[in-house]
Formats: sequence, structure tokens, C-alpha cells
Amino acid sequence: MSTNYTPEMDPRKVTTHRLSEMKRSGIKIVALTAYDALISKILDESGIDLILVGDSLGNVVQGYETTIPVTLEHTIYHTKAVANGCSRPLIIADMPFMSYQVSPEEAFRNAGRIMKEANAAGVKVEGCKMVVEAIRQMNEAGIPVMGHLGLTPQSIHKFGSYRARGKDVIEAEQIYSDALQLQEAGAFAIVLEKIPAELGKKITEALTIPTIGIGAGPYCDGQILVYTDMLGLTVDFHPRFVRRYTNLHETVKKAFSDYAEDVRKGKFPHEEESY
Ligand code: KIV
Repeated sequence: MSTNYTPEMDPRKVTTHRLSEMKRSGIKIVALTAYDALISKILDESGIDLILVGDSLGNVVQGYETTIPVTLEHTIYHTKAVANGCSRPLIIADMPFMSYQVSPEEAFRNAGRIMKEANAAGVKVEGCKMVVEAIRQMNEAGIPVMGHLGLTPQSIHKFGSYRARGKDVIEAEQIYSDALQLQEAGAFAIVLEKIPAELGKKITEALTIPTIGIGAGPYCDGQILVYTDMLGLTVDFHPRFVRRYTNLHETVKKAFSDYAEDVRKGKFPHEEESY
């Protein structure tokens, strides 16, 4: 369902409760990633509902091939910066690899640090079996948790590729039953990554909590993309699910090389640009 809703109609800070209301009213949830205050301010001005400080910061900001090297300190640093730049969007931070899988107690302590030190309104964790107890306990302690099923990038070394998940019946049934378990444990929403649209639909219809899709088709309650992908800043990553709304890589490259040429030719600065 599409609606005529615009964020100006509701300028209040977005909460996890608001996301549930949005699902019930058929208002699509709009989410993007951010890693700093400059971008989170622009996302806020653009009416984005949810900002995820994704551990994609490992790829986007830090230049790693995977999200595995991201640490709790990195997450806290970037989440603080994002929180400093915006006021309306709900800010959720990804818990880094091995900051929540070892034990519910450790998950608890680390999620608490992300909320206390970085001003996040909740955290996101990947998978089901290893995290379901941690989600239950965090939820009871007042820490909102978002799940993440389908393609789970922190398990790249287990799966060996970033292929779509849930294309065969057994995997699809597993993802479906994991989604129900995460909801039962108290997750407030679930990211569904790179799964067939029909599976995204089935899960979205079965859950009372919102689903946020990335490569999971149009039926999810909301959509998320990595902001550098949709701006066309990343050039060597072309999954089908990324729509490029602009080609900032070319625009920025041209500005940098025009500047370099001006400096080299003595054309910058002009008299009006000098004291
Ligand atoms: O790390 C991330 O940016 C994510 C999104 C792709 C959902 O998990």
C-alpha cells in the first residue's frame, strides 16, 4: 500500500512505537545508513525515519573487505557523530561481530554502552539461534533490538559468498521461522536482506513488527540502503537491489580534479578569495 504521508505531517522524534504504528497504518518506513554528523543532518532534513549506523562502516568508511574488523569502539565513535547531527530520525547502531554472540551478558553490557555513550535508541544484531536469548534479555532490560535475517554479512566466512538467501524451500522456511522467533523474543523490527520478494511478503504479512528490506522486494514495511551506494559514490558494487539516485562519484571526482588543475595553474585562489 502507498500513502500520501510525508514526515512534515509528524515532526515528532521517531520511536520504535512509531514504527509499529507506521506498519499498522501502511506508512512505509524510510531508512538509510549514516556514519557521521554531516550526512545524518542531511538525512534528517530529507525526512528519513530511521538511520542505521551499520557495520557497513567497515566497508564504506574504513576500506575493509568485510564488516568483521569493526569494533565496539568504532561503533560508539560513529554512532555518537550520527546522533550529534540529527534530531528526528530513530538511530539504531549495528552491534559489531563478536560483541553479542558470546553470551547474553556480554551482549547486554555492550548494547548498554552503545546506548549510554553514543545516544543510540537501540541496536541491531544478525542471525537467530545465537542471539535469540540475548534479544529476550536486552528487550526486558529496555534495550530495543532489531533483528537481521537473510544475507547476514558478519557470517561471510561461514557462507563464503554474498549470494541471495532463502531461494530454496529449506532455507526459506528457516528464515521464516527465525523471523517468528525473533518477534517472539521481543525484537521491535527485522531487517530482511537479499531474499526473494515473495518470502519478504510472507514474512511481512506474518509479523506484527515491521520488516525493513534491502533486496527483499517491495512488500516489506520499509526499505533501507547504504547511503553511499544510492548516491553512486561506490563504483565497484552493483547488486540488483541498489538504485542509484545520482552519480556522486563522477561529480565529486570532477570537483577534485578541477580544484587540482586550478591550484597547479595558479588559478586558485583569486584576489577575491584572498585577504
Ligand atoms: O551494515 C549495514 O549497513 C546493514 C544494512 C545493509 C542493513 O546492515
